[in-house]
Amino acid sequence: MTRLRLPVPDDAAVLDGQNSPDGAGAENWHGYRSPGQYLRRIESGDLINEEHGLLVVVDDDDRVVGDVSWVRLLNGPPPHGYCWNIGVWIAAQARGKGHGAAAQRQLADYLFANSYYERVEAGTEAGNIGEQKALERAGFTREGVLRHACWRDGAWRDMVVFSKLRGEQ
Ligand SMILES: CC(C)(COP(=O)(O)OP(=O)(O)OC[C@H]1O[C@@H](n2cnc3c(N)ncnc32)[C@H](O)[C@@H]1OP(=O)(O)O)[C@@H](O)C(=O)NCCC(=O)NCCS
Repeated sequence: MTRLRLPVPDDAAVLDGQNSPDGAGAENWHGYRSPGQYLRRIESGDLINEEHGLLVVVDDDDRVVGDVSWVRLLNGPPPHGYCWNIGVWIAAQARGKGHGAAAQRQLADYLFANSYYERVEAGTEAGNIGEQKALERAGFTREGVLRHACWRDGAWRDMVVFSKLRGEQ
């Protein structure tokens, strides 16, 4: 079973797996980041606040298989236009086992339960078929394409936007 929990310092090594082209995933590699960023963030204690959050994804044996994160975004005018935008990463060896879909379903449930926002959204590159299928499996609805919304690997990329509204399964 897939679960979400707070990260602890020992989890940082697995999360650092994202800091390489192979580990990040083909459509998810945006270049190197400073080494040790996860450990520093975990040790800082600034994991969850009103703007953003980070949890790890664990398997039946409490082994870390990835992470989920979220940021607050403004789509409509303030103060009532906020939503959550979520992201997910599953380590290469743990992909294709249902963790990505389950983690995003659980994260949406968590955010609806712990904030009053109406909308959880996720964007992924048009070429990232795995993430699009995982979002559909997690109960998200495809809304449309943002043209050239993301620069990666020397080119502008279209992003597909998905959302889940409060109460949707
Ligand atoms: C994308 C990602 C989150 C999907 O998580 P996952 O645990 O591998 O996917 P799941 O096992 O939950 O699979 C969910 C569905 O997607 C399908 N799927 C998963 N990876 C796929 C791929 N590469 N190509 C086609 N379909 C794929 C599964 O078959 C399943 O389909 P189903 O609902 O019809 O049964 C994961 O592969 C990953 O972290 N990739 C690298 C990072 C990344 O791209 N993150 C998203 C950035 S926006």
